[in-house]
Amino acid sequence: ELEFFFPQEQTFALIKPDAAKNHKDEIMQKVKDAGFTISKIKEAPLTREMAAEFYKDHKGKPFFDDLVSCMTDGPSVVMVLTKENAVEEWRKLMGPTDPEEAKENCPESIRAQFAQNILSNAVHGSSNREHALESIEYVFGELGI
Ligand code: TYD
Repeated sequence: ELEFFFPQEQTFALIKPDAAKNHKDEIMQKVKDAGFTISKIKEAPLTREMAAEFYKDHKGKPFFDDLVSCMTDGPSVVMVLTKENAVEEWRKLMGPTDPEEAKENCPESIRAQFAQNILSNAVHGSSNREHALESIEYVFGELGI
């Protein structure tokens, strides 16, 4: 079994509403080309409560309300991605938060190619394994969407 040598990890990934509407197929192609297995996928609008849960670390910051609004502005694509080192690999494929920095330093990244601005920056991904497990359970668990 390959997994004996290359232990598989899961991460939570999300295509934000603006990109889900305009660039879904291109982003999905990049996910597949990068060797991720799409273990779960669902397209649905997030509630404000869900958006606030994903970004709870940013509560109270000046951009928080705008962030929640942009995340609930239409259907998102939510996914569980599986790959060796998936959490880090997905963040690498996403690219830097700020699309200007992404264009300059990571031109092949999803954000360099599909982000509109720092808020509507195409994709979200968990920053560590613990957050990944939490978000997967929250979205795909019993009470999720
Ligand atoms: P963060 O978790 O720092 O970045 P990432 O999405 O790369 O994990 O921030 C979460 C989101 O908050 C980010 O995708 C866009 C928004 N944001 C701003 O609008 N302005 C900012 O200065 C920062 C840091 C984030």
